[in-house]
Amino acid sequence: MKVRQNKGILKAMYVCAVLLVSAGVAFAGGDSPQSGFKITPILQVVTQSTVGIMWETHNASAGTVQISVNSNMSGAKVISTSSATTRKIRVTGLVANKRYYYRVTADGATSATRSFVTALPVGSREPFRFIVYGDSRTAPWYEDAIAKYGDNDDHLPVCQSMMSYSPDFLVHVGDFVYSGTNMDDIYNFFDVEREMLAGNPVLPTYGNHEFDGGNATGNTYMDSYLIPATGGTFAYYAYNYGNVHILVVNTGTIVWASDNADHLKPGSAQYAFIQADLQAAAANPNIDHIFVSLHAAPYSCANFGDNSNLINYLEPLFRQYHVKAVFMGHEHDYQHMVHDGIHYILSGGAGSSMMDYPWKGDQDDTHANLLRYAEVLNYVIVDVDGPTINFQARQVQGQGNSSSSLLEAFGL
Ligand SMILES: [Fe+2]
Repeated sequence: MKVRQNKGILKAMYVCAVLLVSAGVAFAGGDSPQSGFKITPILQVVTQSTVGIMWETHNASAGTVQISVNSNMSGAKVISTSSATTRKIRVTGLVANKRYYYRVTADGATSATRSFVTALPVGSREPFRFIVYGDSRTAPWYEDAIAKYGDNDDHLPVCQSMMSYSPDFLVHVGDFVYSGTNMDDIYNFFDVEREMLAGNPVLPTYGNHEFDGGNATGNTYMDSYLIPATGGTFAYYAYNYGNVHILVVNTGTIVWASDNADHLKPGSAQYAFIQADLQAAAANPNIDHIFVSLHAAPYSCANFGDNSNLINYLEPLFRQYHVKAVFMGHEHDYQHMVHDGIHYILSGGAGSSMMDYPWKGDQDDTHANLLRYAEVLNYVIVDVDGPTINFQARQVQGQGNSSSSLLEAFGL
């Protein structure tokens, strides 16, 4: 019952918030058409000089984005957009490491004023924080697990706990939703995450569920995310923030260890991108730390186990170019292991049901060099301070409770 009550409160909060920020919007019952935002504006990638902003309205509408260095929006730059329901724009000409305020007017509604801080200049050694999380999706195919653990009612407390640590940006390791082609799943995701994403830009990583329910076919809404304008595709790209380089790899279409990984083999376009990107980052004197984000994991002690294709294709490049940590998802738990000095950190605990898969039998929680394993809601705080990196994995209570406790802390 508590699960359903929480869902009711969440929906009530959502309706109230929409009404508050949408003065003049007609939300009449019956057959009257709706207007205003279906997805209130959220941030996408933020760089030193750009920000991506996305929103969706009920009706196709021209819109305006106001952006200002002042919280009262005085002196705001105004950008007009053409008419559409879903809009994503990239605002350019911003100054690095500076707070900006923004709001959007479209389809007769004006969003609340929110803010963000542009990225540190590449090469800056100033301290900053990002948070890694993933597998926020529901699991509607697993009724017993939902009854036992709840579904997206664990998602919101994880986000609330993450926000309390004021990250500069987020890295999502994939499986945002159960089905990237199901708009109910998409709207449910944004209902939960919109408050967080309005003030915290996220780097998306392709998970297998960004496709059609994990079948790796069909189009996906999530590929509408903007990525850094530095080459690559939505599925694989790279990002620089201060002295850190993050390479996002697409292992999302690989569900089982037996799946081939042709799109990652030497000679493939993605392999060439990964090799060139890591080589350039390793040679860049402004970059001190290289991280990788991917979904299906090369190493796992749990349900899906190790993936020899991913290990054989990717690990030699990770070793050669001194990758320090690989962030992973796909399993609904927390794992930390070290292979050849590279930390493999799996954080798939942002709301999807924690459960053993029936075909797997008992969990295998032993693995070479496994340092920590826990089947709990979780996320990972990464604090970068010049040459030092401190990781803090946190376990969230869930079921409407955003309190958290330390799962593991370690430094590099
Ligand atoms: Fe997955």
